[in-house]
Amino acid sequence: MCGIVGYVGPRQAVGLLIEGLRRLEYRGYDSSGIAVLNGSGLAVVKQSGKLSALEQRLTEYTPKGTVGIGHTRWATHGPPTTGNAHPHVDQSGKIALIHNGIIENAGAIKKVLEQRGHTFKSDTDTEVLAHLVGVCYRGSLEEAVAEALREVDGAYGIAVICSDEPDVLVAARKGSPLLVGVGDGEWFVASDASAILSHTRSVVYLDDGEMVVLTRKGYHVRDLAATRIEKPVNQIEWDLATIERGGYAHFMLKEIFEQPDTVRNTMRGHLLEEEGTARVSGLNLTDDDIKRINRIVITACGTSWHSALIGEYMLEELARIPVEVEYASEFRYRNPVVDDRTLVIGISQSGETADTLAAIREAKRRGARTIGLVNVVGSTIAREVDGGIYLHAGPEVGVASTKAFTSQVIALALITLRFGRLRNLSILQGRQIIQGLRALPEQVQEILDRAPEVEALAERFWRSNNALYLGRGVNFPVALEGALKLKEISYIHAEGYPAAEMKHGPIALIDENMPVVFIAPKDAVHGKIVSNVEEVRARGGQVIAIKNDGDDQIKRLASATFTIPETLDLLTPILAIIPLQLFSYYVAVRRGCNVDQPRNLAKSVTVE
Ligand code: F6R
Repeated sequence: MCGIVGYVGPRQAVGLLIEGLRRLEYRGYDSSGIAVLNGSGLAVVKQSGKLSALEQRLTEYTPKGTVGIGHTRWATHGPPTTGNAHPHVDQSGKIALIHNGIIENAGAIKKVLEQRGHTFKSDTDTEVLAHLVGVCYRGSLEEAVAEALREVDGAYGIAVICSDEPDVLVAARKGSPLLVGVGDGEWFVASDASAILSHTRSVVYLDDGEMVVLTRKGYHVRDLAATRIEKPVNQIEWDLATIERGGYAHFMLKEIFEQPDTVRNTMRGHLLEEEGTARVSGLNLTDDDIKRINRIVITACGTSWHSALIGEYMLEELARIPVEVEYASEFRYRNPVVDDRTLVIGISQSGETADTLAAIREAKRRGARTIGLVNVVGSTIAREVDGGIYLHAGPEVGVASTKAFTSQVIALALITLRFGRLRNLSILQGRQIIQGLRALPEQVQEILDRAPEVEALAERFWRSNNALYLGRGVNFPVALEGALKLKEISYIHAEGYPAAEMKHGPIALIDENMPVVFIAPKDAVHGKIVSNVEEVRARGGQVIAIKNDGDDQIKRLASATFTIPETLDLLTPILAIIPLQLFSYYVAVRRGCNVDQPRNLAKSVTVE
């Protein structure tokens, strides 16, 4: 969602804010703005469009000041115009506020304020909050923010400054991530650490309901009722190079190519080959706890939901536990049947997705054990679950999720090993899976080394307006994920289906203009998928097949093929998705799309 950065210290704020926003731009990029306290009042500059448009404005006029806030927006209330861009100011023009999230009772508050003579310049809920802080202001910004927040419903990460208090920045969170960067005589707030990493690695993660007050002398954390809270200072381990493009044309491409390492990192330290199992102590589940679990619900959104589906196949097949996969947005509102013998697994790259977080909270409220498969260390989901596995895939900046997906599948395989070995999975089967897992990084590399073959495929098909992705069994979710990747970055309409389901409707779409991507490795359902390929061919569809070496049957039928190395059936998704990620990437580049910042999307969806 939106990106937030704030600064209090001895240096000029504007450059620091823009640098922070540049790193946060992947969270939202339809407009941006900054506000600084320049000694005589507030200076606010904002602009619709990409951050570069704001930078252009700032070349004409760069406000001076050493306390400031900056924001990059992903519109929720009102279109992405300059007027709707943050910061928003209150009625007096003294208070400026930036906000990530949604204020649900903004309409009602606005009505009351309008009756009191307030006029609003934007369509945003954020401006209403700025006005409310202004109404509550009686000489202390800290108290005004606390009082205003007690009146609002909804989710927020906010940062606020006031020209009457030129040394103060107040920030608060409920449902949207926020952290404090502790520098040497300077302090930052940010919605994620990448914004401030070039200045400090020491951060304090705020929890829901907490506020921080930054001054030139330091900071303190409190709740809305003024109780001071002692918070630990954490050290960020990853460095700036990991979040920079490192010579690649796009973050997405870099992240696709990182997968030999990220896949290795996710399993590092977890595999116990001798015992044919995985050590996953972070789950905080004893053997007895695991044996008591009689049902698993996996909940997630988007790409993470697709990895969850793969987990369902793995866990049911090898651990013989009933598994249900549910969109987090549905789970939270449908009165789910969950008890203390249910394990609820939340999967989230960002660890901040609002629906997944709400689903986890709902599951906890109903007495379930919760675990999280999360990439971002210190994120809200990671901190709220009873246990979990960090993916260790490193920061994922490209909006389209790639390396997080393969790492999520690895993490699910680790859980499958651990649960399976306490149930039906033999030590030999366990060892076989571990060997399969260990071979994956090199196999992924082998595929990446042949990226030009995928680029050539993209060259043949980039003009298509539609595409169908078909797979069976554990590769059905791969079909869904391949289609999602294509549609989100190239804007080609693409659908994923279980291959046999095609006959029940989608087959009507097939003609000579319809590329149909089959995920067709030599697995237990290979014979069935060959028949499905025949059905498409018979109707003139152009088949692109992901196949294994030596599969002449598929080769004869397909218009184009890409060969992936062989692995265990249940691990094929990790190899099959790589050429599909590359295919989407090259098609999108060929169509001139902005791969890292596709339209209407944001990296982490912290609103419902
Ligand atoms: C797709 C994509 C989204 C996310 C979804 C969940 O490429 O990035 O579909 O997978 O928004 O996000 P996380 O995993 O952060 O909860």
